[in-house]
Amino acid sequence: MKRNCLLLSLIVLAVNLKAQFPAAPQTQRQIIVETENTSLVFSVGKNQKLYQVYLGEKLLNPEDYKTLPNQHEAYIPSGTDNLFEPAIKMLHNDGNPSLELLVADEKVTRDGNLVTTSILLKDPKYPVEVQLNFTAFQKENIIKTWTEIKHQEKNPVILFNFASSMLHVDADKYWLTQFHGDWAKEMRMEESQLTAGIKTIDSKLGTRANMYQTPVFFLAKNKPATENSGEVIAGTLGWTGSFQMLFEIDNEGSLRINSGINPFASEYHLKPNETFVTPEFLFTFSNQGKGQASRNFHRWARNYGIMDGNGTRLSLLNNWEATYFDFDEKKLTDLFGGAKELGVDLFLLDDGWFGNKYPRANDRAGLGDWQETTTKLPHGLGYLVEQAEAKGVKFGIWLEPEMVNPKSELYEKHPDWVLKLPNRSEHYYRNQLVLDLTNPEVQEFVFKLVDDMMTKNPKIAFIKWDCNRMMTNTYSPYLKDKQSHVQIEYVRSFYRVMERLRAKYPTLPIMLCSGGGGRTDYGAMKYFTEFWPSDNTDPYERVFIQWGYSYFFPSITSCNHITSMGKQSIKFKTDVAMMGKMGYDIRVNEMTGDELSFSKQAVQNYNRLKELVWKGDLYRLVSPYEEDRAVLMYANETKDKAILFSYSLHPRAFNQYSDVRLLGLDPNKKYKIVEINKMQGIRSWFPSDGKTFSGDYLIKIGLKLPNNSDLTSAVIEITEVK
Ligand code: DGJ
Repeated sequence: MKRNCLLLSLIVLAVNLKAQFPAAPQTQRQIIVETENTSLVFSVGKNQKLYQVYLGEKLLNPEDYKTLPNQHEAYIPSGTDNLFEPAIKMLHNDGNPSLELLVADEKVTRDGNLVTTSILLKDPKYPVEVQLNFTAFQKENIIKTWTEIKHQEKNPVILFNFASSMLHVDADKYWLTQFHGDWAKEMRMEESQLTAGIKTIDSKLGTRANMYQTPVFFLAKNKPATENSGEVIAGTLGWTGSFQMLFEIDNEGSLRINSGINPFASEYHLKPNETFVTPEFLFTFSNQGKGQASRNFHRWARNYGIMDGNGTRLSLLNNWEATYFDFDEKKLTDLFGGAKELGVDLFLLDDGWFGNKYPRANDRAGLGDWQETTTKLPHGLGYLVEQAEAKGVKFGIWLEPEMVNPKSELYEKHPDWVLKLPNRSEHYYRNQLVLDLTNPEVQEFVFKLVDDMMTKNPKIAFIKWDCNRMMTNTYSPYLKDKQSHVQIEYVRSFYRVMERLRAKYPTLPIMLCSGGGGRTDYGAMKYFTEFWPSDNTDPYERVFIQWGYSYFFPSITSCNHITSMGKQSIKFKTDVAMMGKMGYDIRVNEMTGDELSFSKQAVQNYNRLKELVWKGDLYRLVSPYEEDRAVLMYANETKDKAILFSYSLHPRAFNQYSDVRLLGLDPNKKYKIVEINKMQGIRSWFPSDGKTFSGDYLIKIGLKLPNNSDLTSAVIEITEVK
């Protein structure tokens, strides 16, 4: 009896709730955003609200979308009937903290491979417009989405939330893969099941924003994502500042994903008629697991996301781990010889070449004083450029333009050019402070630093742009009463400087470094050709770190250097570095004869095969997260050439390893398998070396790989035989 009463009251309650929150009204029309394989479908309700009705594999018949219910308001504003985390929250001039968004207009523009849909939403009572934009990259299956917010109230409105994107997903279970880390342990991958409530991946660090968390994720529906199966959304934010990706499962088990700039400490006072443009959120949907999602991102990044993505890259010898701060002109010019001997394209001079009143002999002084230290480099940079050229290599240089040591002339001259709180002591990290880039004078200083250097030394062929600290005690003397704008304005100012630099130096290769890999995102990568993944160059660790980046970034962006860190053989180090953009940071004169001749040969192999590695389709075959080995391969689009990298990590004695099935090949072709990068003195066991197999065999049966010895590796060239 008691049970029946309870049931009855529950039914009454449910009916009441339904009356309070009526089901979304019926559809008037639909707006379909689609790539070759994916659709994101919206509908306009009879109440003029915008609903997301579908996100997934494209349906053959668009009519079928019409049967889907209007379950989720697409971009949910705060303050009216929303019960969960909103996409946007605004305070109007009259103190009203709510927003209602109704569809006012929509337009579609086509530009070859790109189709852009813009949906204009307006508040019926307040002069506020919110435009949702979606660019669908047809072939790459990537959708880029961003929001534009504008109003015509009399005074500024305050924006508290301003998501770039809100996506709705419905499944029984949700699995989130995130990437996190710290200095020297970047991009550690972790997958977990989401539970009811909110899970946030975010950063509040301002600059070098993704030191702890990288703004990328995979969201798998129903079960954990695998490499080659399962429904997966892969997303990333193109913003090189504090970000937030928030995953909320509501009372009905639906998931909403809000991505954008982190609202933390960033209430934005939006002036009348100013347009607040959010950063781009980029995502792809794959029903063939993470592997396909990565390949979509790689293609897109090379075609649209990074500077000169389809161009070439210079191999180099860097002196950082070889000398640290301890060098002079003679030491450097001797190193040029090593670069030439290895056969690399460029010598890269790292930190420690500048400062006179406070010479940069360590990281405690000199940062900001970008004049050559005359005691170390009496003939200046010009001489080094010439000497490098005479030895047959190009010359590149390290800069850290956004930072300053308090012990510097720059700081003495411009103590107001740094981010620091009044009435608090300065807070240092690596003995330095962040310059207040929101100040146009500082922007000019940074631009001129590069511009003057390049004007004086036009033959400088490469820049490494470092950024060794995050923001703390954050306060901009320039922004005065707009302190909640600092984080956003900093990033915008950084982009402004990079725009100017790129307008003047469109082809100069610039590596983005951030005390290791703390700044890898597609906001910054528009201006950079490559990035430094980590200061941890131990090749065992690098297998994992580079593996992590490979989920979202193409290998052409990942600077992998062979260094003296780690006790592994030069072969293992080289094979690990070769899975991306290879370089060296090593004392060449301390290499043995065998090491040197191996390396020279490897550089030649690399030059012969680098296009395949950089631009081929990546297949991760065996994950180091699952086994004591890592195997991956790149295959070209025409499927006549591939390269496979196999790394044995710390295998247990007598482990049995199954054959590894290859991917990306044509079953109807025949392929010759040849092991390259062999080193004298290191016995190679690879029974298939020199043999020919059908693609069908390699795909269905696979290869036995030499995976039984600690920290050994094999590189296998796969060529179609006609
Ligand atoms: C941090 C970078 O990650 C290193 O490669 C090196 O350039 C140092 N900074 C120099 O200070």
